[in-house]
Amino acid sequence: MSLDSQCSTCTSIAMYAYHAVFVLQLFFCFTEATGSSIVGGKVSEPHSKAYMASLQVNGFHRCGGVLIRKDFVLTAAHCKYEKMTVILGAHNISQREKSQQRIEVAKFHPHPRYNDKNFSNDIMLLKLQHNAQLNKYVKVLELPKKKKKNLPANTICTIAGWGQTVSGSRMGLMSDVLKETTEKTQFNFECKHIWKDYFQTEVMICTKHDQKGGCCWGDSGGPLICKKKLEGIVAYADPQNCSNPRYPHVFTKVHSFLPWIEKVMQGKTTA
Ligand SMILES: *[C@@H]1O[C@H](CO)[C@@H](O)[C@H](O)[C@H]1NC(C)=O
Ligand SMILES: *[C@@H]1O[C@H](CO)[C@@H](O)[C@H](O)[C@H]1NC(C)=O
Ligand SMILES: *[C@@H]1O[C@H](CO)[C@@H](O)[C@H](O)[C@H]1NC(C)=O
Repeated sequence: MSLDSQCSTCTSIAMYAYHAVFVLQLFFCFTEATGSSIVGGKVSEPHSKAYMASLQVNGFHRCGGVLIRKDFVLTAAHCKYEKMTVILGAHNISQREKSQQRIEVAKFHPHPRYNDKNFSNDIMLLKLQHNAQLNKYVKVLELPKKKKKNLPANTICTIAGWGQTVSGSRMGLMSDVLKETTEKTQFNFECKHIWKDYFQTEVMICTKHDQKGGCCWGDSGGPLICKKKLEGIVAYADPQNCSNPRYPHVFTKVHSFLPWIEKVMQGKTTA
């Protein structure tokens, strides 16, 4: 987050708090789920993940995203805000690094069947106002190939983000540099057993994290990368404590949405 002045800092925190309460209320009505920095892990090698995007509102980091084409970023649908700026080529988002490109969102494409109550289809494409300039700091991450194979349990995957670095609920203590860690995929039946109806095997992946944690507030929309392939988008975790080991982290399964992604990117659907 770029903390330009005291004033904008206060506004941002107030807005953030408001949103947190809203989301938490929403979730308590249904179960203990919620949308989800990296707790634990390590600071990424600067620009080693040149596909990472920071999605910002008023200069305040809200979510992660992945550049999948020069003009499209993939993220989570619950990351939709009125007006968002996509920052590419960043490492320290509190700085105006020369490598950074800031591009406004021209059009939001949340999944037409995204449901903010049970988190189904939590995926969104952002069409950028202009093409990103690809270079060593800004790169496209290729989507996985169509052939669908199930990701086995216990696969070690990497997640990255600028989100909260301490466990617990939303406190707005974001990381200014990109961090990463690993989490292991779980068996679907385990995910289902814990998250009940919230976990839909066909369209979601869940992972276990170590004692230190893993993804947390502000990491939403970021990638889950397994064996170098983009498999998931950070979706939700326990709202009271993103590091609660009893609640696996849940990701939107990218494979299941490839036809929709393609349609949107070819301009064949307005949704
Ligand atoms: C990121 O940049 C800010 C502003 O220059 C600086 O205060 C902060 O220490 C930097 N963070 C890291 C982890 O280097
Ligand atoms: C989520 O809610 C929508 C709308 O109520 C419903 O159609 C869908 O089946 C629900 N999904 C799950 C997994 O409960
Ligand atoms: C969240 O859970 C982790 C893992 O059990 C624990 O270490 C941490 O103290 C908890 N944080 C809060 C704020 O409850």
